[in-house]
Amino acid sequence: ELMDEVMGISHLEEQIKQKLKIKKVIIVPGNSDDNKAVIKDIGKSTYKYLMSILKDNVIIGVTGGNTMFEFAQCLPEFKKEKNILVVPARGGLGREVEIQSNTIAATVGKKLCGSYRLLHVPDNVGKDIMESLMSEPDINTTLEYIKNVNILIFGIGKSEDMAERRKMDLEGIRLINSRGAVGEAFGHYFNRNGEKVYETSTIGITVEDFKSIENAIGIAGGSKKAEAIIAISKVKKDLVLITDQGAANKILELI
Ligand code: BG6
Repeated sequence: ELMDEVMGISHLEEQIKQKLKIKKVIIVPGNSDDNKAVIKDIGKSTYKYLMSILKDNVIIGVTGGNTMFEFAQCLPEFKKEKNILVVPARGGLGREVEIQSNTIAATVGKKLCGSYRLLHVPDNVGKDIMESLMSEPDINTTLEYIKNVNILIFGIGKSEDMAERRKMDLEGIRLINSRGAVGEAFGHYFNRNGEKVYETSTIGITVEDFKSIENAIGIAGGSKKAEAIIAISKVKKDLVLITDQGAANKILELI
């Protein structure tokens, strides 16, 4: 029976990979929407996949979110220094400190026996403040590292849920809805075709940076994230997706 399940999952992985036309798909059993423990399995699978590609002297970019939090939690403590630098992909984003990208970057950096840099930029400040922040040497150096990320590990959200989590005002919600936003990643909202329709005002990774990253690993599960996953897959064809059966089955229904 276990063998059947393993065969079933690898078939599903192949199907989703072909539907989404991306580099690689890894699926864990279950549906995160119904069972929160499934997110932990996505975290563990992400760790396993990371180990298969990790080299010395790399820069790893991370975002925030619950899925990224579980990934960070499941990492064992490395004993040997590999000269790894971990940076948050974007500054700010959200009020919950525990699941912010800065916190995740610090945890992952420490656990991998490497170093980390933080990006302390508040959300939704004006353009002038943003520009002067970007010219601060410390922030500027971090931004340079972000532009040179070798491996990005990032969460993917349903746009409505992310707008709500970030306390977007009604006007903003109407705007992104009218533009057809379905998915969100690193502070960018995308429509069904993978076009950026809105961006939170903070600094960090851009869509252009994202497209040129060698190893981008999107981690997201739960059937309600299916549309968001489809949207992000359109942005980057060499994406690696780590998801669950709930999202995978829903993706099959949708495309
Ligand atoms: C956020 C990331 O912190 O987490 C987003 O910045 C991502 O890019 C989101 O979409 C996903 O969160 P979760 O909690 O569903 O894993």
